[in-house]
Amino acid sequence: MILVTGGAGFIGANFVLDWLAHGGEPVVNLDALTYAGNLQNLQPIAGDGRYRFVHGDIRDRDLVERLLADQAVRAIVHFAAESHVDRSIHGPEDFVATNVVGTFRLLEAARAHWAALPAADRGAFRFVHISTDEVYGSLGPADPAFTETNPYQPNSPYAATKAASDHLVRGYHHTYGLPVVTTNCSNNYGPYQFPEKLIPLVIHNALAGKPLPIYGDGRQVRDWLYVGDHCAAIRRVLEAGVPGEVYNVGGASEMANIDVVHTLCGILDELQPRADGRSYREQITFVKDRPGHDRRYAIDATKIATTLGWRPAETFASGIRRTVRWYLDHQDWVADVTSGSYRDWMAKHYAS
Ligand code: NAD
Ligand code: DAU
Repeated sequence: MILVTGGAGFIGANFVLDWLAHGGEPVVNLDALTYAGNLQNLQPIAGDGRYRFVHGDIRDRDLVERLLADQAVRAIVHFAAESHVDRSIHGPEDFVATNVVGTFRLLEAARAHWAALPAADRGAFRFVHISTDEVYGSLGPADPAFTETNPYQPNSPYAATKAASDHLVRGYHHTYGLPVVTTNCSNNYGPYQFPEKLIPLVIHNALAGKPLPIYGDGRQVRDWLYVGDHCAAIRRVLEAGVPGEVYNVGGASEMANIDVVHTLCGILDELQPRADGRSYREQITFVKDRPGHDRRYAIDATKIATTLGWRPAETFASGIRRTVRWYLDHQDWVADVTSGSYRDWMAKHYAS
């Protein structure tokens, strides 16, 4: 059995679906179902005997310890987090609570479980910590991409809490020998991403006839990774990643935000033209910049490519087209997740 935390969120749900589709062993998914968690994401495996959902918080150490023991867990894949930079700017406390305290409690439970395993199982146990390229800070236009040895320079409350969690994970390996592996990956996109993040937000707003908000000058660069490729990287890390090592995971697809939005508008113009025949580009609106906005992220994924043989299969051109098609085909899913508290967030964040 493997324990996935945050498996009802965007990447976690994609991972659980992908893992079981590849014949992986049974999964228990522990998720607190915050605004970002959605059990509909796991609808394709409802009724699959290899899957079990537990509604709970990673900070609940008793619950986690019981789960680890009862389910004879041999690996933890830790996705659960508060993940949205803009929300961390409005209210950082939940980020400290889940990303720092939550990861700490999970590590404590994992350490107790691992220490009690028979010696033969201890060596095979893994704690895979899913982290982000944002811990490395911001790059200049000509800087080389982030490698695993870049210094940590987190610039947002979100990035700072993820950096703290990475340090805790590292410390548990160095001090206690817990077999951890950390992955730091770039911006994911694909099915089931909550429409507060750039790509699904733009698709949703475009179809709804709303403005497509671009922060600042729109020239900030992100390295876009199709979520299916990320899932494949995690499977590979779980299989062959070396305890104590860090692996950067990226899509080799650097794009400026404004170019991403133009690409989305072009695909939508083709697949779902506006009723008035004009381009969705007319909805592009430049808005106030994000405070402390990092200018550029880029991942050097040489290490995972050369040591574990992982490379992204999707280009941005192929992945973004698949993604737009998925959103067009799943408007019911979008309608469900954009009701209720989503509207409050949009009203508050984009008010000015
Ligand atoms: P998400 O916000 O879509 O999902 C997070 C999930 O964690 C939700 O299901 C939520 O209910 C759950 N959760 C939150 N707090 C919890 C708690 N205290 N206990 C149990 N469950 C809790 O996030 P995502 O985009 O899928 O990101 C997953 C992980 O990958 C995060 O750790 C994030 O930092 C990391 N990451 C994300 C990206 C990206 O582009 N989305 C890139 C790099 C790294
Ligand atoms: O780099 C990895 C990170 O990618 C992850 O660790 C985070 O969990 C994930 O949310 C993502 O962070 P970003 O801040 O890069 O993603 P977001 O989709 O929020 O924004 C992408 C870029 O688009 C960023 O430069 C901000 C900009 N943006 C975003 C929104 C929501 C806009 O211009 N307008 C918007 O309305």
